[in-house]
Amino acid sequence: MSNTLQKNLDYKKFVIDSKLQYFKPHATKIEKTFSEEISSSLNRDLKFISPKFFYDKKGSDLFEKICSLPEYYPTRTEISILKKIQDELPSYIDKNFRLVELGSGTSVKTRLILDIFAKLEGTLEYFPIDISEILTESSEQLLQNYSRLHITGIIDTYEGGLEFLKTYDDKKNLILFLGSSFGNFFPNDGYEFLKKINFTMKPDDLFLIGLDLVKDRQILELAYDDSQGVTAEFNLNVLSRINDELDADFNLKNFTHHAIYNEEDQRIEMYLKSLVNQSVVISKSNLLLNLKKNELIHTEHSHKYRLPQINEILTSAGFEIKHTWLDDNKHFSLTLVSKN
Ligand SMILES: C[S@@+](CC[C@H](N)C(=O)[O-])C[C@H]1O[C@@H](n2cnc3c(N)ncnc32)[C@H](O)[C@@H]1O
Repeated sequence: MSNTLQKNLDYKKFVIDSKLQYFKPHATKIEKTFSEEISSSLNRDLKFISPKFFYDKKGSDLFEKICSLPEYYPTRTEISILKKIQDELPSYIDKNFRLVELGSGTSVKTRLILDIFAKLEGTLEYFPIDISEILTESSEQLLQNYSRLHITGIIDTYEGGLEFLKTYDDKKNLILFLGSSFGNFFPNDGYEFLKKINFTMKPDDLFLIGLDLVKDRQILELAYDDSQGVTAEFNLNVLSRINDELDADFNLKNFTHHAIYNEEDQRIEMYLKSLVNQSVVISKSNLLLNLKKNELIHTEHSHKYRLPQINEILTSAGFEIKHTWLDDNKHFSLTLVSKN
């Protein structure tokens, strides 16, 4: 069976018009994965919920709100770097590149790269990859502003999207992975994931990754525990999602948001803390969850890096560093690499 045919069997294709199409795994596969993963990750001593489950419609909207909070420096800082590279990035790309983005979200930052692509001749092609349906809204908005743009959206995990891309065609890709989303991976998983990206890339492809840097504890902790409580709402929303989609009975009043910087491991750790001894039924995962007062459910790690570590991580995964750009305060980094 050819790869293209296999792909069509795994994904349902939605053609909206000549400029917009989506690929999405069959619904049964998505539901099965969610209930199975929750069943295993909450049925152990150190309980956790993967951060990829934050992003239902409400979670994606809340993340958008987080991005404009005064405490949440990463978004505006990365945007400032993307503005700074407007004159430099064009020397690395040409009209034969397509733009691919892992975890594209609202595609707001993407616009700064699309502006560069728009100055080149030819068709403007964008492949956003995101687990959230938000991808459809952001794609429609982009098409209103970029007349030569053609979008193929892949509503799937990063890994699913990379598999899709690997066999798609021979066109050169500039792959974006912004927002320091890479920092959500445990170091070993992150290394494996970078190797997967490297394996997906063709010899002339490029990869641009945004990574958050180590900084003052107070700045970090406020960014993940803001005064308006939006991050807390975002964290707690994953329980509402489990209630709605997996037929569970979490009482959100029995949990609180907890975010702390672990200096030794250079990461913000985000948890949901149980305020009482309690039992929760998650019907579709066949799980009776018993939680003690003050027990933590881990929901996200957000690793912070030092520049030599970024070089080390990327080179060990088989990349050659082309350039690293920083903001004026050295709070955030953008690194462009090719396959070694
Ligand atoms: C932290 S947000 C970053 C959004 C945007 N790239 C930015 O820099 O502001 C992470 C995005 O990746 C998506 N996402 C999270 N985990 C994912 C996964 N495992 N596979 C695919 N998409 C994922 C989310 O839906 C969300 O849109």
